[in-house]
Amino acid sequence: MCRLAGYIGEKEAVRIIMDSLSRQSYGGYDSAGVVIGSESNIICVKSVGRLENLEKKLEEKKLKGNWGIGHIRWASHGRVSLTNAHPFSDCQKKIYLVHNGIIENWRRLKRKLLDKGHRFVSETDSEILSHLIEDYFEGSLEEAVKKALREIRGAYGLLAISKNEPKKIIAARLSSPLLIGIGEREGEYILASDPAAIAPYTKKVINLNDYEIASVNPGNSLLIVKERKLQFLDFDVKKSEKGPYPHFMLKEIMEGPETIENAVKGRLVPEEGTVKLGGLEEVSEKLKRINRLLLVGCGTAFHAAKVGKYMIEEYADIPCEADVASELRYRKPLLDNKTAAVFISQSGETADTLAVLREFKKKGTLTIGITNAVGSSQARETDAGVYTRSGPEISVASTKAFLGQLTVLAMLTVFLGRQRNMSLVTGKRIVSELSKMPRLVRKILKRAPEIKKLAKKYKRYQNIWFIGRKYNFPVALEGALKLKEVSYLHAEGTAGGELKHGPLALIDKRFPTIAICPSDSVYDKMVSNIQEIRARQGRIIALATERNREIEEIVDDVIYILKTLEMLTPLLSVVPLQLFAYYTAHHLGRDIDKPKNLAKSVTVE
Ligand code: G6P
Repeated sequence: MCRLAGYIGEKEAVRIIMDSLSRQSYGGYDSAGVVIGSESNIICVKSVGRLENLEKKLEEKKLKGNWGIGHIRWASHGRVSLTNAHPFSDCQKKIYLVHNGIIENWRRLKRKLLDKGHRFVSETDSEILSHLIEDYFEGSLEEAVKKALREIRGAYGLLAISKNEPKKIIAARLSSPLLIGIGEREGEYILASDPAAIAPYTKKVINLNDYEIASVNPGNSLLIVKERKLQFLDFDVKKSEKGPYPHFMLKEIMEGPETIENAVKGRLVPEEGTVKLGGLEEVSEKLKRINRLLLVGCGTAFHAAKVGKYMIEEYADIPCEADVASELRYRKPLLDNKTAAVFISQSGETADTLAVLREFKKKGTLTIGITNAVGSSQARETDAGVYTRSGPEISVASTKAFLGQLTVLAMLTVFLGRQRNMSLVTGKRIVSELSKMPRLVRKILKRAPEIKKLAKKYKRYQNIWFIGRKYNFPVALEGALKLKEVSYLHAEGTAGGELKHGPLALIDKRFPTIAICPSDSVYDKMVSNIQEIRARQGRIIALATERNREIEEIVDDVIYILKTLEMLTPLLSVVPLQLFAYYTAHHLGRDIDKPKNLAKSVTVE
């Protein structure tokens, strides 16, 4: 997704802006640009492709200056090209800006500006902003930005500078994250969309709220429309580095055990068969009264929501629905005061998820967040919530965050269950099993070399089907999503029972299936599905529980996982599938951490 950066201070702005952009580049991008101001001049440089391309151009130009802004773009309006890359300027090349988000009423505004004689160079919606600001400019950039933004419908994280007002950046936000880091030295500011870009320079930040506009200028210190409290970043820069791993994805899969450990730390109460979730204390009484839960997310977080539905329905006796946010926001879910909604998001900034959250809040629904990013929009806007504490996840394909989300959902199940009919014995069993999960995941990770070999064997197939039932149906969806995201092979996931309602038509010896069939309540049903595939000469990899030797007789390959409670099997079964996707992509030479066309945090609809 698009990310922005800005700097004002005594240091070389280009160096800090490029570093900040590169620290945010994990989200995926396709072009980049910076504009740097010095005492006498302001110069804009852009390039298509990787930041290295921009770096080369910058070296040739030898840009000097200690204020400026930069951007990495992930194309949404207009193709990938130099002219569509940010920063954009006005007709007179005096105002420059970078923008994240989408201007929804751009067509109307563009027509109006064209009629007034403005000349556009790009196909983007963002360029409207620089011309609109120019249109309102009467000597103060801040005033012009304020007036222009009143006309905008959509979302923006925006940095604007003007040749006439050196060492000043105007920053504005609506539904797109924007942080202002207060540098170590007096009058130094680092601005960015993501804490990862600010943390190496300072831990003191102001997180802009929607509709706030800040004028950042060393002489004038920091002027913000409303008085804002300073926050301190809890961000470990080391954790966002690759270390000895070739890719973030592998590093993050390997961090699975720690992710679960961190999520449960200090939260399990084994003797009482329950959990202590500090973030839910305030709404605990309200939660006792609810009789319906909506679980909402996108992508991997939606798959976690689907697992959560099975857990909560079975153990907490609350009817649940799991829905993708992009669908739910246009449906008419019937909400009443006994319904609560749980929003699941690693980044806490996914536009569709936030849109549903905001809509539900207007209707007075109790909103709970399961989020990884501390201080994110979702974390700030939900009524209550539980952090997953997974640490920075850099790879576009989400892996450890999924384990964090499942762990929190299992704890939420115990929390809600113990408020209702869940017995002490059942509570104790789940809590005790949860505490064993890091060890079990560690054992599965030791099998990475086996899975690497298997990925090599299957990489030549263009299509792979994933099936599972009950708790492992969402895992089949997640396994297929991981594989298609990073290997670009065609992969689909379905419920085992749905096979004969269509997908079986595709199965033959060129179309293998991964069948998730731990020894659980639906094991026999999965074996029947496996037989149906075998009868059509389909090859099968089974994910089975250790010591199940009989399965070897009916499938081509087996990956063994360890025994645990049925509701917790997704925490184990997803790990080999993450590794399988990773190694397949590795064997096929894909750009694993930044798969083509995808972005980490989807902050546009
Ligand atoms: C993007 C990412 C996925 C992620 C989804 C939801 O599509 O590529 O990995 O699962 O967004 O993101 P969230 O931050 O809301 O969990």
